[in-house]
Amino acid sequence: MALLPILVAPDPRLKLKAKPVASVDARVARLMEDMLETMYAAPGIGLAAPQVGESLRVIVVDVGKGEEERAPLRMANPEIAWASEESIPFEEGCLSLPEQYADVTRPRAVRVRYLDEAGAAREIEAEGLLAVCIQHEMDHLEGTLFVDHLSVLRRGMIMKRLQKAMNDKTA
Ligand code: NI
Repeated sequence: MALLPILVAPDPRLKLKAKPVASVDARVARLMEDMLETMYAAPGIGLAAPQVGESLRVIVVDVGKGEEERAPLRMANPEIAWASEESIPFEEGCLSLPEQYADVTRPRAVRVRYLDEAGAAREIEAEGLLAVCIQHEMDHLEGTLFVDHLSVLRRGMIMKRLQKAMNDKTA
């Protein structure tokens, strides 16, 4: 396994629409493992392939409580099969927008179809944090960041704050 470098906004690669996985082969399975290792090390609860520079429809998610109770999900070509009418606001962050947080409103529950690490078709119903996390990661496959759900003003403020933080770090 390997740690992968995580792209930080406004990297233009984060704005691309990712391509479907043709088949979950050894390379894709390896990518999933590397993404999980990278996500745990960050640490984060979700990561999408475009964030590590791979324009593929692959996401990994784990909202389990720490190392004791890991519950990793590896998903290729995820699709929303159903979303609840009820929406809830949730405070989101993103490894590509380090240390920036804002409330985003999304469907409270979703049912998602995907291929697992063995290429088997699966379906999962998620609500609360898991539903939020899966939807956030799926957004990355469309080139959408959580700040794209906010007002232009709010997004501008966050991007400016991020730019300043990154400048301070490299200064
Ligand atoms: Ni993200």
